Amino acid sequence: MLLLIKNIQELIQVRSMEVSFLKGDKMKELPTLKNAFLLIENEIIKDFGVMSQCPNINVNQTIDATNKTVLPTWCDAHTHLVYAGNRVQEFVDKINGLSYEEIANRGGGILNSSKKLNESSEEQLYQESKKRLEEIMKLGTGAVEIKSGYGLCTDGELKMLRVIKKLKENYPIAIKSTFLGAHALPFEFKNNKDAYINLIIDEILPKVTDENLADFIDVFCETGYFTVEDTVKIMEAGAQYGLIPKIHVNQFTSIGGIEASVHHKALSVDHLEEMTDNDIEALKNASTMPIALPSCSYYLGIPYTPARKMLNAGLPLALASDYNPGSTPSGNMNFVVSTACIKMKMTPEEAINAATINGAYAMGLEKTHGSITIGKKANIIITKEIPSYVYLPYAFGSNNIDMVIINGKVI
Ligand code: NIG
Ligand code: FE
Repeated sequence: MLLLIKNIQELIQVRSMEVSFLKGDKMKELPTLKNAFLLIENEIIKDFGVMSQCPNINVNQTIDATNKTVLPTWCDAHTHLVYAGNRVQEFVDKINGLSYEEIANRGGGILNSSKKLNESSEEQLYQESKKRLEEIMKLGTGAVEIKSGYGLCTDGELKMLRVIKKLKENYPIAIKSTFLGAHALPFEFKNNKDAYINLIIDEILPKVTDENLADFIDVFCETGYFTVEDTVKIMEAGAQYGLIPKIHVNQFTSIGGIEASVHHKALSVDHLEEMTDNDIEALKNASTMPIALPSCSYYLGIPYTPARKMLNAGLPLALASDYNPGSTPSGNMNFVVSTACIKMKMTPEEAINAATINGAYAMGLEKTHGSITIGKKANIIITKEIPSYVYLPYAFGSNNIDMVIINGKVI
C-alpha cells in the first residue's frame, strides 16, 4: 500500500534518525522543506523531498496538500486519560475561590476520582477512556503515555492498567503505560503512609510486572503527598523490575525531587512549575527530559514552567498535556503548543520541537516517532489551508487540522 502526499506547502520537522532529542539553542531550529512530497508505504515513511524530485510511480492513494502544512503527529508524554466520571463540581468550587490544595483537603481531588474509579467496572472505564483517546487522535496526537494512579489499591490500579493495555491492543496510536500507585495517600492509610508504600512495593508492583502492565513508574513527589525519600524508595523498587522512572515533581514546591530523579536515571521529570537554580543545574547534561504541562498551569492558575530560563541554560524541554479530571481536563496538544508560545514565550519552533521529537524521547519512542524521518512510523498531521506553521499556535482555539494519519492510515 503506497500513499503519496504531494504539493505540500511546507513539510515540517524533517530529520535524520540520529536526532533523538533537542536542547538549548538547537530547539530554535525546525528543519522544513517547502513544496514537498511525502511517500508512505504501509505504516512507514518511505521517502520525502521537494516536488521536483517526486517519484513518478503508481500509488494506491494520492492526497493533494496544496496550501497545507504537514507535520509529525504530537507526542504527548504525560497523561492520566483513563479515569472515571469528572470533577465539574470542583471546577465550580475553584471558580468560587478554593485552591487545588483546599479542594484536596476537603476530600476532593485525586481521592474523589479514586472513589469514582473504584465504583466503575473495567468495561465502563474502558468505554469512557476510549472516547478520550479517540478525541486526542483526532486532535493530532499519535503517541501518548497514560498513567494509573486513581485506583490507589491493588484491584483499582490493576484495573486501570488493564484498561490501558486494552487501549494499546485496540488502537493504532502508540501507547506507553506508567504505574503511578504513589499518586495520593488513600483514605484508609491516612495515618500510615509507610504501610501504603509497602503495599505498593510488596504487593501491587509485583502484580503489575507479572502481567507486564507497565513501561514506567511514577510518584507524585510533592509536599503533602510523597517525599523525596519515599520517591527514591519507589524508584529503586521499580528498578528491580526494570521500570524506568518518570516523576511528578516541583508542581507546587521544590523539595529536591529533580536531583533524586536525575540520579536514578529518570526518563523524565514532569510539571516543574516551581524551579530553583539548583533544579536547573541538576538537569544539565542529564539524560532526563524535563516536561512542562502548560494546560495545567492555565487551568489551576499556577505559575508556568520557566521555559526561557531553562532553554537559555541549555536544557531540553518537552511539552505534554497532563490530561486528567482534576488539574487539566483537556488533552488538546494544539492548545498546549499555543499556550507554551503565548504564556511561556517559547518560539513556535521550540514549542513544535518540544511537542514532537522531545515528547517522543520522553516516552522512549524517539526511534519510531516525533519527526518526518525515513523509516519512522507514518504519523502525520495535514493542516487546513494555513499561511505557515506559525499560524498553528497563533490561531489558538481554532481547529486547524484537516486530516490525521496514524501508522499510515487516515483516521
Ligand atoms: O499531574 N499532580 C498530580 N496529578 C495530576 C492531577 C491529578 C488530579 O487532580 O486528579 C497532575 O496535575
Ligand atoms: Fe500529571
